[in-house]
Amino acid sequence: MLGRLNHVALAVRDLASATELYRTRLGASVSEPQAVLEHGVTVVFIELPNTRIELLEPLGPNSPIAKFLERNPEGGMHHLCYEVDDIRAAAERLKRDGVRLLGSGQPTIGAHGNPVIFLHPKDFAGTLIELEEVPR
Ligand code: CO
Repeated sequence: MLGRLNHVALAVRDLASATELYRTRLGASVSEPQAVLEHGVTVVFIELPNTRIELLEPLGPNSPIAKFLERNPEGGMHHLCYEVDDIRAAAERLKRDGVRLLGSGQPTIGAHGNPVIFLHPKDFAGTLIELEEVPR
């Protein structure tokens, strides 16, 4: 069921300064900021040879990132995203095993245009997990 690590998402207070930090201190190749209204974030992608890092800044009053930053004022790791072949099959199997899915429990379209679901951190060793169906 489990495929590649698609990305690690980091919540940041100030996207411009975090982007600049990665660009200048680490020489990272960094995308232009992209607003993802449905998920309440502005995101910057950092491409690495084996995965990517996403910097997330809150967008809008009900952003889940704003709540995360209230609890973690310096920012930090927000979630990991693993690839799966079949998101509906993965969701059904996890629900059957008693793992709670966030939101409606149905896949939504994520920042890369692919269907995603999020698993409750309390059911997953304290880490928010995103699963993303990636076309092969
Ligand atoms: Co993500």
